[in-house]
Amino acid sequence: MKILIMNGPNLNLLGEREPNVYGSETLDSINAELSEKAGRMGFELSFFQSNSEGELVDALHASRLDCAGVILNAGAYTHYSYAIRDAIAAIKIPVVEVHLSNVNSRDEFRKTSVIAPVCAGTIAGFGKYSYHLALDALAYRFSGNSEAQK
Ligand code: DQA
Repeated sequence: MKILIMNGPNLNLLGEREPNVYGSETLDSINAELSEKAGRMGFELSFFQSNSEGELVDALHASRLDCAGVILNAGAYTHYSYAIRDAIAAIKIPVVEVHLSNVNSRDEFRKTSVIAPVCAGTIAGFGKYSYHLALDALAYRFSGNSEAQK
């Protein structure tokens, strides 16, 4: 089973970008750790990062062809991209919204997520472990024990 780990704008700068908010680890190092965990769980991961809205939309469309689920940190697009929201709504596989920071305890504009209503669920505020928790959440969904429906 393949899962896509998708990151949006500015997340390529993890490690140097506002480390007091987002931590000091790079995206590559977070992804490497996730790969190990996924391997132990029997999942295969693929990775995609882009600073462009259209590329993120294209990657969501493509994921429906070969992935069982998506873990998405849409960065600032979370708060205003109806195009990404519609792309998530258009595909049938579950998409888990993740954020490193606790978006609800920061600026007012970060409290709005236009993608949350079409995502399977949201995990925010646990740094890199937000991605790990999202992987656990998808595994639970795929186990058939979850009552959740997209
Ligand atoms: C973020 C939170 C967003 O508000 C911000 O624009 C980001 C990162 C997070 O992971 O905490 O780029 O998605």
